[in-house]
Amino acid sequence: MKLNIALLAGDGIGPEVIDQAVKVSDAVAQKFGHEINWQPALTGAAAIDAVGEPYPDETHEICANADAVLFGAIGHPRFDNDPSAKVRPEQGLLKMRQKLGLFANVRPTFTFPSLIDKSPLKRERIEGTDLVFLRELTGGIYFGERGRKDDGNTAFDTCTYTREEVQRLAKKGFELAMKRSKRLCCVDKANVLESSRLWRETVQAMEKDYPEVEVSYEFVDAVAMRLVQWPNDYDVLITENLFGDILTDEASVISGSMGLMPSASLGTKTSLFEPIHGSYPQAAGKDIANPLATVLSAAMMFDQFGLTEEAEAIRTVVNKSLAEGVVTEDLSEGAKAYKTSEVGDWLAANI
Ligand code: IPM
Ligand code: MN
Repeated sequence: MKLNIALLAGDGIGPEVIDQAVKVSDAVAQKFGHEINWQPALTGAAAIDAVGEPYPDETHEICANADAVLFGAIGHPRFDNDPSAKVRPEQGLLKMRQKLGLFANVRPTFTFPSLIDKSPLKRERIEGTDLVFLRELTGGIYFGERGRKDDGNTAFDTCTYTREEVQRLAKKGFELAMKRSKRLCCVDKANVLESSRLWRETVQAMEKDYPEVEVSYEFVDAVAMRLVQWPNDYDVLITENLFGDILTDEASVISGSMGLMPSASLGTKTSLFEPIHGSYPQAAGKDIANPLATVLSAAMMFDQFGLTEEAEAIRTVVNKSLAEGVVTEDLSEGAKAYKTSEVGDWLAANI
């Protein structure tokens, strides 16, 4: 297969982790007879510095015409501490999600046998965890009306959803549940929020189309608690944008490190693959960041093309690296810590 992949390294550790995902993907392509044409493009603070805009039109052109986008990370501390900054790197990510129509963010949470004891949570609670969040990504409070009034002394952000937005996300949730253990949890705050009541009502109406799927409805605060207490109770969870943002960071604790969790953002056309972690600016340029979340995001990309053997080859080699202790310092626990680039080299060599 010939693949055109837009490569958006972004900020902080983005370029370093992306390099490793490219090495590993190229090794897979070579082994299975594919050809990947990587098309680098600017985004985030790097793009603001170069052209004054975090998601330039030229980058959008490249992404929209690619078969998929592989993305590193976005964000820079110089903007975090400046609430008055006119352009922010994160706006690039939001604009990209919106312009590419990436409405469904797939965030799996699973454990690695060799890392169970790295999680701050007890082994017996988390062993066997295998759940997937489907986070709505182009609506809700992230994109609703916002502003200031009363001379700037009052601020508001609005959470708005249409029935169609809920339906298309929930449809993906039902379909995924059908392929897995047929359990779907709709996470909302329907005891308080009108938008959540629309979610619940919409999902309830869809139940009849998927009679085999057992649907539960839970409030987001309860899920926040039960997720780390009984993660095995969950399989597929669907939720709105902000709840999904928060819960997926929480869920990453189950796996032992933020540096491990991949994600896919699916839309109507091009899909995007990215680690769930941020740009980790403290580590930028030090060759110490864990590249596995990005490498596993590349595996999700191969899955999306129907190249499951290729994806499996990546997951197998990642598990091998963890089992053999070829890991970066976040996981090395006093033993030898490998550099980001060394982990990438090892993975590519072992494909
Ligand atoms: C994420 C990130 C982004 C989000 C930020 C960087 C805008 O936290 O992908 O989860 O909030 O969606
Ligand atoms: Mn987040």
